[in-house]
Amino acid sequence: MTADQSEYFRTPKPRPIIVPKLHHATFMTMDVDAMVRFYELVCGLQPVYYSDFAAWLTNDEANHRIALLKLPGTRPPVDKPHTAGLHHTAFEYETFDQWLDNYVRLRDAGLLPTICLDHGMTMSMYYADPDGNGVEIQVDNFRDWGLSKEWMWASQEFATDQIGAQFDPEKLVVARASGLTPDDIHTRAYAKEYFPAEPRLQMTFNDPWPARIAAEPSLADGVPLPPASQGD
Ligand SMILES: [Fe+2]
Repeated sequence: MTADQSEYFRTPKPRPIIVPKLHHATFMTMDVDAMVRFYELVCGLQPVYYSDFAAWLTNDEANHRIALLKLPGTRPPVDKPHTAGLHHTAFEYETFDQWLDNYVRLRDAGLLPTICLDHGMTMSMYYADPDGNGVEIQVDNFRDWGLSKEWMWASQEFATDQIGAQFDPEKLVVARASGLTPDDIHTRAYAKEYFPAEPRLQMTFNDPWPARIAAEPSLADGVPLPPASQGD
């Protein structure tokens, strides 16, 4: 290839590009209130703006991190756990203690994770929201994004196994109370010492929609269209 055939030659522009930062994710939903309650409970997201048909939530300095839209015509997903699209969003605690305390807080509020995994670079608990989307609450095992990123691309462990080891979070609570450090607990969790008695077989979340539709059959008709659009 000659220089004038090169895309770099034909389209000169500054490289590397100046990149935008990931800012928010937006879900279509049929129940804004239930989703707002869930995301506030699980990770302290609060509405910056809230209406019957939408909400914009944040738990940090950004104007929103999760948005919810109840758009006219929205219908329940069919077989949500096996439908292409979003699997989960994720939020990260800075310390192991904050992360495990959040588990205890949610457990005491009656909410348990669907699956817990030590992925190697993070320990992660996955909760299912009312629509069947996952939200991962994680802590970085290296407490340093540079090191955890390096571990992902360079370690033999991640090359061999990109999922990691399931753990029972109650066993982590006991381990912490016994005086083990976060590093000890990660090492043991990754070695499956805290493996759950009843491990989950898949990384899918349970499908909440059949029970919701049974309880409220009109959901199957979808979010009503505005009068002017009906009959379109
Ligand atoms: Fe994740």
